[in-house]
Amino acid sequence: MSYNIAVDGPAGAGKSTIAKEVAKRKKLIYVDTGAMYRAMALFMVREGVDLRNTDEVIQKCRKADITIRYEDNVQVVLLNGENVNAYLRTEEVGNAASAVSVIPEVRSKLVELQQQLAADSDCIMDGRDIGTCVLPKADLKIYLTASSEVRAKRRYDELAARGERCDLKKIQEDIEERDYRDTHREASPLKQAEDAVLVDSSEMTAEEVIEKIISLCGREG
Ligand code: DC
Repeated sequence: MSYNIAVDGPAGAGKSTIAKEVAKRKKLIYVDTGAMYRAMALFMVREGVDLRNTDEVIQKCRKADITIRYEDNVQVVLLNGENVNAYLRTEEVGNAASAVSVIPEVRSKLVELQQQLAADSDCIMDGRDIGTCVLPKADLKIYLTASSEVRAKRRYDELAARGERCDLKKIQEDIEERDYRDTHREASPLKQAEDAVLVDSSEMTAEEVIEKIISLCGREG
């Protein structure tokens, strides 16, 4: 049986930073499920699909072959065979991912891939529905959150460090809009699993969050 940690929480809570580091220290594979939704969104954007047209998204989603490969422990997302990692972390693709992820057909396709990865390897997987839907029997579940102000500021700093022009107020609005959509959609909304440990990182450093999770995972790394 593989060992699985599920990390859920809203956009910008620091899930990927934390999960990557826990993966390294505990010798787990890090599975970034948001990147899979982003790859699907990138496909739709490239194909010029109107994201409000659910039927068209469902039709097109059958043509998107998304797979994952690991290179030096880094997750590489392949979209129809192309490594698309470099195109996934823009605000445009993030917002489009939030829109396509409301569609059950999109979710079931990606959830199957996620469950297969977790069955095959010891991993820490982050997303929105990992503890509630994808891995309901995960060995440890974390719900990682922070206030929307703190999350917006972190995303702003991240974008600014990459030299991207951005507006803090607009980022906070986008985050709040995305939170609303992620928590109110019908298919697998973002919510804390009953058996998940709540970690609010608003007033914590990344190192404190990492140590807290490692202290909870009771497994030699
Ligand atoms: O974590 P992220 O920002 O890369 O995720 C992008 C979008 O994908 C997010 O708005 C919601 C969606 N998502 C999801 O619905 N379920 C997941 N397991 C992961 C991401």
